[in-house]
Amino acid sequence: MPYHVCLGATSHAFFDQWTFAPMTGQEPVRLQKILADAGVASRRASERLILEGRVRVNGKPVTLLGAKAVPGKDRIEVDGRALAGPEPIAHYMFNKPEGFLTALSDGRLGRPTIATFLEPLPHRVYPVGRLDRDVTGFLLLTNDGELARRLMHPSFKAPKVYRALVQGHPGPEALRALQDGSLLVDGKPVKPAKARMLSSGPDKGWLELTLTEGRHRQVKRMCSQVGHKVQRLKRVAYSGVRLDPALGPGSMRELSPHELRILREAVGLPEGNG
Ligand code: URA
Repeated sequence: MPYHVCLGATSHAFFDQWTFAPMTGQEPVRLQKILADAGVASRRASERLILEGRVRVNGKPVTLLGAKAVPGKDRIEVDGRALAGPEPIAHYMFNKPEGFLTALSDGRLGRPTIATFLEPLPHRVYPVGRLDRDVTGFLLLTNDGELARRLMHPSFKAPKVYRALVQGHPGPEALRALQDGSLLVDGKPVKPAKARMLSSGPDKGWLELTLTEGRHRQVKRMCSQVGHKVQRLKRVAYSGVRLDPALGPGSMRELSPHELRILREAVGLPEGNG
């Protein structure tokens, strides 16, 4: 049985030429990408699995992050369980309800997590980014590791649109401060944003804020800084795709081909599905 794992760039070149291409016609791929694409975990979490010695390729433990293998050819095991071949790539639009952590488990605290909604799905998917426990709205769920990585990377500036019910009435000065990149979060200036009022009541109003980064509790912290505490927060669009108004809290559906194309194009990926 050919051994397809190669470690490091030099041996990769050698094996590519003499071992991989003639035998399989397939390119070796980094192990963490194979694990992420198979829906085992995010790429970062897959790297941890490798470093912890929980991954075997063709029966041999692999603990180096440079290791590669050929998907569908090499036998890859995590904690003794074989990957069931490449899983179909899936993308879901999820309307996250209030009261659930964006996590697959909460350790000893045992608070409700979105895992409840993922369990019935035919594919193992994980959330792209996170929303706070009390925040609702668009959460992308996928096992498309490369798309997820790009959408979360700040260099791609994926716009996220939020609707916030805020105390008081943010005036022109507050809106300017929210937009011009002058606010600090964790001591670092935020990126310029877009802000506009959608409606105002007697003592509160709905503000729409579009951010191109995703720092911890960013909307709440920015609004508090301009004197308008957030009472409710919902994400209504993600990287050019709007949350389907037909999806109630806790519901999800697969992305349409058109929505997927928008997401892929936004981060420089060609048309297609994976
Ligand atoms: N901003 C917040 O304050 N919370 C979120 O969950 C997302 C953005």
